[in-house]
Amino acid sequence: MVPDQTLTGPSTRLPAATDNAPVDPRAWETWLAARSRVRAARGMQRTDNSRGPLTDLASNDYLGLGGHPEVRAAAAAAVHEYGAGAAASRVATGTLQVHRELERSLCRYTGRAEALVFSSGYTANLGVLGALGGPGSLFILDAHAHASLIDGARLSGAQVETSEHNSLGDIERLLLQNMQSPAPKPRVAVVVESVYSVLGDAAPLAEAADLCARHGALLVVDEAHSLAATEHGSAARAAGLAGSGHVVVTATLSKALGAQGGAALLGGESAGLLREHLVNTSRTFLFDTALAPAAAAAALRSLDLADPQRIGDLARSARVICDTLAGHPELRGRIERGAGAVQSIRMPGADAAMAATAALRERGIAVACFRPPSVPDGISRLRITAHAHQDPVELALVLETVARTILEVES
Ligand SMILES: Cc1ncc(COP(=O)(O)O)c(C=O)c1O
Repeated sequence: MVPDQTLTGPSTRLPAATDNAPVDPRAWETWLAARSRVRAARGMQRTDNSRGPLTDLASNDYLGLGGHPEVRAAAAAAVHEYGAGAAASRVATGTLQVHRELERSLCRYTGRAEALVFSSGYTANLGVLGALGGPGSLFILDAHAHASLIDGARLSGAQVETSEHNSLGDIERLLLQNMQSPAPKPRVAVVVESVYSVLGDAAPLAEAADLCARHGALLVVDEAHSLAATEHGSAARAAGLAGSGHVVVTATLSKALGAQGGAALLGGESAGLLREHLVNTSRTFLFDTALAPAAAAAALRSLDLADPQRIGDLARSARVICDTLAGHPELRGRIERGAGAVQSIRMPGADAAMAATAALRERGIAVACFRPPSVPDGISRLRITAHAHQDPVELALVLETVARTILEVES
């Protein structure tokens, strides 16, 4: 028998460690320690924080549904019915009745024709952009797009361009630049968030959709911060885009719905075709275990509870946050009123932001601290998150402590 040259030939012999520089058995450890020192020197060390018994001005459970008795009961019942996990990918044997019910319910809630549930909002974005990407595609990504959108675009193999934040003019410039290039990409998608995660500001969805339609482009809208958290329960629906085939929505079930998971929400005549494409080509759908049944059942129950009353209460809490902080002249000009739950206060620097967050923790209040590199414009901020179930009077009292603490830290 002829020996297999690919296995035995001298040209394929792996170099022995001694052929080149000696192997440093501590190379990884040395590198990890150096990276840790750099983070410490820059004041950039993160920890895995728990909410604990603190007053919650930081979590994404905007409507307080994560702990709602009916949501808990639905999750528990699903564990009894299906077990702890889905045990397989959706395309193997992992699709359960609760996934189908959740997809139908998401369609009813958002006015979309088709839905596909993923194991998280992160994997939904990776999956959707991955399935739309490839060498013939161009993604125009807003400069403030979430990490999952950036990763999804980069991994997709598409050409990626970044447009100035919330600038329709810059999006149009990039659309025209593609058209006029010697080898224009035949498929273009503009990628935005309905409500941006750090600054909390809203994208001009109707105008962006109109621009995309004129240029034959898709508009991908990440509704992570607007699903069940803004008027009509969906920003795309509120903008009159629920039936638009060129608008592709992604969302998370882990914020206002208080559960876990993500979704692609599709509309228009080609919704079925796009869903089929996602089922067949989204790597995070194909090669990821299906959403756990407890999370799916919890999200399903939350959708029934995420009604206009709760969403209205959330908007009221957001107003209380901004109005109370604005009562302090030193803070007034630094408040960024968000379109959803997230409100921000600009801080003079990362150190002040961290010191205020730590001092508030000492006083029993959890707020989020955003600083470079997590802030797209380099400005450090305290992020104060509104929740529907906050009593307005108690909330205003807590915010007086927040304001006092910020001013003390900065004095
Ligand atoms: C805009 C945006 N998209 C996607 C995600 C990811 O969602 P999930 O936490 O469900 O993975 C987040 C969560 O932080 C987000 O803010």
